[in-house]
Amino acid sequence: MTGPIVILGIFVADTTYRADRLPKIGETILGHRFTLGPGGKGSNQSVAAARAGGDVHFIARLGRDTFADLAFATWADAGVHPAVIQVEREATGAACIFVEEETGDNAIIVCPGAAGGITPSDIDTKTDLIRRAGVFVTQLEQPVDAAMRGLEIARDGGAVTILNPAPAATLPDAIFPLCDFVTPNESEAELLTGVPVSDLPSARRAAEALLEKGVGAALLTLGGNGALLVTRDGEIHVPAFLAERVVETTGAGDAFNGGFAVALSEGMSGEDAVRFGCAVAGLSVTRAGAAASMPARAEIDALLA
Ligand code: ADP
Ligand code: NA
Repeated sequence: MTGPIVILGIFVADTTYRADRLPKIGETILGHRFTLGPGGKGSNQSVAAARAGGDVHFIARLGRDTFADLAFATWADAGVHPAVIQVEREATGAACIFVEEETGDNAIIVCPGAAGGITPSDIDTKTDLIRRAGVFVTQLEQPVDAAMRGLEIARDGGAVTILNPAPAATLPDAIFPLCDFVTPNESEAELLTGVPVSDLPSARRAAEALLEKGVGAALLTLGGNGALLVTRDGEIHVPAFLAERVVETTGAGDAFNGGFAVALSEGMSGEDAVRFGCAVAGLSVTRAGAAASMPARAEIDALLA
């Protein structure tokens, strides 16, 4: 396929607070360390895909504030082309992440902010771009009706469509036939199909259930067990890369989806594209952070060589 990778999703600023323990309701405690960084699945996937060599255009809704500045700086650094809808008087989204130092346990509130207000009419303003896409990717952090409009336009324009159904949500039946690939992790696959996924045979059963819903292919990510691609013609299991070197798996799914999109846009076969996605994700889990951990193309090629 020819044409750019177009990703629809959200950006949020991740604000992370580390302390000895999580505060109780009504309590104020002093923490040790604060970090501010880019987040949001769609934005992370865009960064992953651009760093992996893709020509990436990211559609999202932002406010006009300091966090929006962080978004633009992040995309400029990674080489992502913004296709944003920027609005006055709404805050750019943010995630408030509390981390208990000792245990690593966390508690998180994500407020999508302006990104959560994206509508099908907003998506219509990006019709020309989406119709030019070779590959179109979306997730479920923004309203599903907007995701669905994006998938419809992309499908109509001849793009390969990828739905990463994260975070887990029940979906309208009509969305599945719009998807060439659906890429859930284990818990998302379980929510979509009712099949508990814990190993390869159960992943296969969940994938079959997704095919019955009308998707072109089910591509389940299985954490340290890699990924399973199931089509009507057969299945391919690709083991994870670098599982022995895992540091932090935040953003692994985003790395996988971004990498997979790049591979498809370059015309790789299904198996090679899944391997490419696993390589990008494997490199990303060897270092801390989500967007900050996305590998450059040279590292990916070296791992796959
Ligand atoms: P999510 O981050 O959405 O929950 P997964 O945990 O399934 O998604 O991870 C996505 C991909 O990241 C996997 O298919 C695999 O390639 C890679 N990955 C995840 N965890 C590990 C790990 N511990 N070691 C190596 N690769 C991993
Ligand atoms: Na990481």
